[in-house]
Amino acid sequence: TRQIKLAVIPGDGIGPEVIAEANKVLDAVLVGSDVVIKRSHFSLGAARYLETGDTLTDEDLAAIRANDVILLGAVGGVPGDPRLANATIERGLLLKLRFELDHYANVRPSILLPGETSPLTAPGTVDFVVVREGTEGPYVGNGGAIRAGTPHEIANEVSINTAHGVERVVRYAFEVAQARPAKKLTLVHKTNVLVYAGALWQRHVDAIAAEFPEVSVDYLHVDAATIFLVTNPARFDVIVTDNLFGDILTDLAGAISGGIGLAASGNINPSGEFPSMFEPVHGSAPDIAGEQKADPSAAILSVALMLDHLGLPEQATRIREAVAQDVATRGSAPAGALSTRTSDVGDRIVQRLSR
Ligand code: NAD
Ligand code: IPM
Ligand code: MN
Repeated sequence: TRQIKLAVIPGDGIGPEVIAEANKVLDAVLVGSDVVIKRSHFSLGAARYLETGDTLTDEDLAAIRANDVILLGAVGGVPGDPRLANATIERGLLLKLRFELDHYANVRPSILLPGETSPLTAPGTVDFVVVREGTEGPYVGNGGAIRAGTPHEIANEVSINTAHGVERVVRYAFEVAQARPAKKLTLVHKTNVLVYAGALWQRHVDAIAAEFPEVSVDYLHVDAATIFLVTNPARFDVIVTDNLFGDILTDLAGAISGGIGLAASGNINPSGEFPSMFEPVHGSAPDIAGEQKADPSAAILSVALMLDHLGLPEQATRIREAVAQDVATRGSAPAGALSTRTSDVGDRIVQRLSR
């Protein structure tokens, strides 16, 4: 038997609701295999912080790091809650995990499955992957305010782009593109304005392209990329982009490919030095939390990404097929809440896996 140590962080809002279904599906797909999951649960998030004042302690981090992989629901409270100002949870917990565990490749696939409802009238084939840089950009917290609160306030939030950081994520994205049938990579940036970072990204794409002669490469400014994601998403295969652009593009990508409730992601540490972390693209959705209205498919598909990462592609494929069949019969809810219960979706997928 193979034992896999899994850290589970259900988190806040709909996080625990969708993770319950993801765990059910994970157990179901492994029935009859020689894989045993040893779970450790971590109650982290806004609720824990408001109770204890802790975001992610050194002990939490050490205990999480001792696992093979991490499954996270969503963390964070109601946007704008003054008790959670200064990105306490986002920076103190989620980004801290991504940074400490060196999750530099944030992989976010988008596929529009048959039967899914797209807000686009003629979406065509939607099957692309955004490789979002995960450890740099304006996310690093390199900023500050001078003369805060005065009419002369200066607020800086500096975007960090290192040659090391850009090189490695661009290389990873080329590897992803090389392994896909279309073998196409699009750099998305804003080189017409962000000239220093833009030049660094473009230079690394150009240099690494020489190592991947089969991969065709193009470039889009991020504003134009949002146009094409809506008018012609079929033009995309692999997008590589910085942390902030990737955040924005992947919510849009979720919305056009069946809804944010179906968008899965992996925060990958490609070297394998640290556990990679799998989570839905969406957040804690305080507006529907506790009502069993959240689509757990994003969390379930994140389990599939996790199984791929663990070298269990057969189980990953079975989960994807079961989700696709479920979606084909029920449709999807691109604008948010489900018409069936969260737990019903998980139960139906478990049933399909058990057949
Ligand atoms: P959100 O993704 O939580 O919600 C945006 C909209 O999408 C809401 O209307 C919500 O109901 C809907 N939605 C989200 N997930 C859904 C699902 N599975 N099924 C159906 N509908 C779904 O974004 P937000 O409101 O901007 O953020 C809420 C909190 O979550 C904030 O504190 C934010 O910082 C945090 N957040 C956390 C993560 C994470 O943990 N990875 C990701 C994004 C946002
Ligand atoms: C995401 C989220 C996070 C991000 C926030 C909550 C820090 O929006 O995972 O997409 O911006 O990366
Ligand atoms: Mn986001």
